[in-house]
Amino acid sequence: ANDAVSTNERLNQVCELLQTTVNYYDWVGFYFANEAEKTLHLKAFAGEPTDHTVIPFGKGICGQVAVSNQNFVVPDVKAQDNYIACSITVKAEIVIPLFKEGKNIGQIDIDSNTANPFTEADTKFLEWVNEEVAKIL
Ligand code: SME
Repeated sequence: ANDAVSTNERLNQVCELLQTTVNYYDWVGFYFANEAEKTLHLKAFAGEPTDHTVIPFGKGICGQVAVSNQNFVVPDVKAQDNYIACSITVKAEIVIPLFKEGKNIGQIDIDSNTANPFTEADTKFLEWVNEEVAKIL
């Protein structure tokens, strides 16, 4: 679990599994915080490559979650002022913070090309995914 390569491979496998299994999960990634720099860094993903591999705290949906420590469900990305577009096909987004020993160390970020697809079941499921992922970090 402390091996960096193995952890990254496992994170990529989680992304792949989620992206291929849930039809409205079109892009799945894990960002992790650099507390000194106040930035989020993309460590693993499945879907189209994104230019946004480093995101300052406070910027976009992801950056807001780094500061708020709260789940952020966006049914319609067009209705958001503080939003970073990764792809013009994206309609909705969900970001769930990942806690390790009570500390917000990163997040899972999912983009959907379907409008308003996320329910409370997604939130609960992704909270559980993050709890499981925290165990391998
Ligand atoms: N849309 C995100 C940026 C990350 S991309 O979705 C991969 C945001 O607004 O923070």
